[in-house]
Amino acid sequence: MFETSEAGANVNMDQLKRQAAARALEEVRDGMQLGLGTGSTAKHFVELLGERVAAGLKVIGVPTSEATRLDAVRCGVPLTTLDEIDHLDITIDGADEIDPALNLIKGGGGALLREKIVAAASDRMIVIADDTKWVPTLGRFPLPVEVIPFGLGATRRAIEKAFAECGVSGQMAVRKAKEGHVFVTDGGHWIVDAQLGQIGDPAGLASALSAIPGVVEHGLFIGLASSAVLAGGEGIRVIERRKPKGD
Ligand code: A5P
Repeated sequence: MFETSEAGANVNMDQLKRQAAARALEEVRDGMQLGLGTGSTAKHFVELLGERVAAGLKVIGVPTSEATRLDAVRCGVPLTTLDEIDHLDITIDGADEIDPALNLIKGGGGALLREKIVAAASDRMIVIADDTKWVPTLGRFPLPVEVIPFGLGATRRAIEKAFAECGVSGQMAVRKAKEGHVFVTDGGHWIVDAQLGQIGDPAGLASALSAIPGVVEHGLFIGLASSAVLAGGEGIRVIERRKPKGD
């Protein structure tokens, strides 16, 4: 896909995603246990990792979705589960938005639940993206909230209340698949996407949403990303989170 940047130059977004993936791959060492993200950028990482594995690199990965599991198998990346190993060294994953504190919105591809479980089990999370994902404040991208279908009306009202208490509001819609039916996650749940515009207190909203029965998970990733690799027309920027994870 080709898009025009503000500077007017044609930039191949897919090349930028691949460049970010390639830069993150430089952090991978022999023997590492890796979380493998989901989405078009993470797919580049899995493909490049597969090339390194074919050349002799010894790693093992935990995929964050069925789609990534299939990609990893296709690319020859050996896989395991979080039941068989006790931690991951690095998770490499994309994001829908990244703010200067390296808080994220994720879940545009619907894999937020497994993505968060895998990221939380990792010593480090490297976010890879083209630089259009960098925003001063989260919220332009609709916030995905993964819900249980049972009692959805009550869950939606509780979500609206949480939004109001956190000073945000916006339309909510149950996500549909391309075919027109309700989108169902790998875990068998539904996703409600909320158009909030700007989220002034992402950590507060994350806590409020997590407390709602019926909400399985939400797309706010707070304090999980250790660094972000952003590829743009001017080159690659690596941004480290100020406080290391766990401090
Ligand atoms: C998947 O559920 C998402 O969290 C993705 O990581 C996110 O949507 C980024 O995807 P792209 O790399 O395709 O933009």
